[in-house]
Amino acid sequence: MALRTLTDLDDKKFNGKRVFVRVDFNVSVSNGTVGEDYRIRMTIPTIEYLTKRGAKVILASHLGRPDGRDDDYTLAPVAKRLSEIVGSRPGIKVRFAHDCVGQPVEDEIGRMNNGDILLLENLRFYKEEEANDLKFCKKLASLADIYVNDAFSTSHRKHASTYGMAKLVDARLAGFNMRKEVEYLSMMKDNPIKPFKVVVGGVKIKDKIGALEHLLLKADKVIIGGAAAYTFLKAKGFKTGKSLIDNEHLPWVSKALASYGDKIMLPTDHVAAISPADTSITMVKGDIPDGMAGFDIGSETIERYSTEVSGTNGAGMIFWNGPMGMFEVRAFANGTVNIAKSMALAYWRGAKTLIGGGDTLEAMKKSGVAENEVSHVSTGGGATLRYLAGDEMPGVSVLNGQ
Ligand code: 3PG
Ligand code: MG
Repeated sequence: MALRTLTDLDDKKFNGKRVFVRVDFNVSVSNGTVGEDYRIRMTIPTIEYLTKRGAKVILASHLGRPDGRDDDYTLAPVAKRLSEIVGSRPGIKVRFAHDCVGQPVEDEIGRMNNGDILLLENLRFYKEEEANDLKFCKKLASLADIYVNDAFSTSHRKHASTYGMAKLVDARLAGFNMRKEVEYLSMMKDNPIKPFKVVVGGVKIKDKIGALEHLLLKADKVIIGGAAAYTFLKAKGFKTGKSLIDNEHLPWVSKALASYGDKIMLPTDHVAAISPADTSITMVKGDIPDGMAGFDIGSETIERYSTEVSGTNGAGMIFWNGPMGMFEVRAFANGTVNIAKSMALAYWRGAKTLIGGGDTLEAMKKSGVAENEVSHVSTGGGATLRYLAGDEMPGVSVLNGQ
């Protein structure tokens, strides 16, 4: 179903209106400074569209998982970064409200001029946000003439700001980032360009099973790396030494191998060591010796994976989620760096490339690949995997009147 988005509402209807925009500014903050600000930058087209049309833009987000009000989780550093990004535009000023509901916030909104931006304090300072509490939903909804959701990465949550309040506002629309995410991911889920290849790494298999079940059906090749690969290799009877194994999901992995073994690519050699701190690494083929763990894919595997990703059989579509090894340690970063570079090469050769999930953007940047060398970087971690699994996304369906 097509999403109702900002451009579906008559341009003039935004003028002077309080437009409540749910964004996902859940970014990393350390010592009061925002780290990667990709999620903030992705909301700028929506914010600018609204300010240019004379809306009073009220931004709301969560940050982290605080247990009630906790200054360690204030959105103040995000307000600062947002002002730095939009501040150069004449007349645009970002203000920060020290709460997200209540009289002082209402007063602050009452003082807003058309085109102003106000960022509310962390929604999760109220337990009612995650509980989707009706009274809290009503309080939030009372701040809004129009509701916009531009936070794809939280749309798997049925919270007050992503779901409950939206149902109480007649005019509810998807922002541009939400639309872009849903367009890319739904194309990949339902109608991928062929050949369609998937690269999956990272540690946890559990979070990826739903997405993998769907992707194994649709993809031509599923390339596995990271710690996830050792569980697959164990299921095939290889020795995996001390490598991280997800024993609980071994039965699922065995079934996947039995049904889709011809599509699944696994590492054949590894960078092994006694521990991540051990710099005397050993390159091993096949079995990993007792007392050692695999921390990266080996050079023969890199060669095979890179060739598959960068494409010798025409441009198609490639999705990458999760690093190939413990890339935070330079000695184990080679697999991830090469996959990132191959993704960029595939893009330059005409493939549609998508990356998604938590630390994959960080891994890509550490590998020297820029954001403009990939067709789309999803802002979502959990949400992206849930969407691809075909799970219900309350924050999306509510925009379509459900
Ligand atoms: C994320 O970072 O995945 C989203 O912002 C959702 O956060 P949550 O997992 O704490 O709900
Ligand atoms: Mg998450």
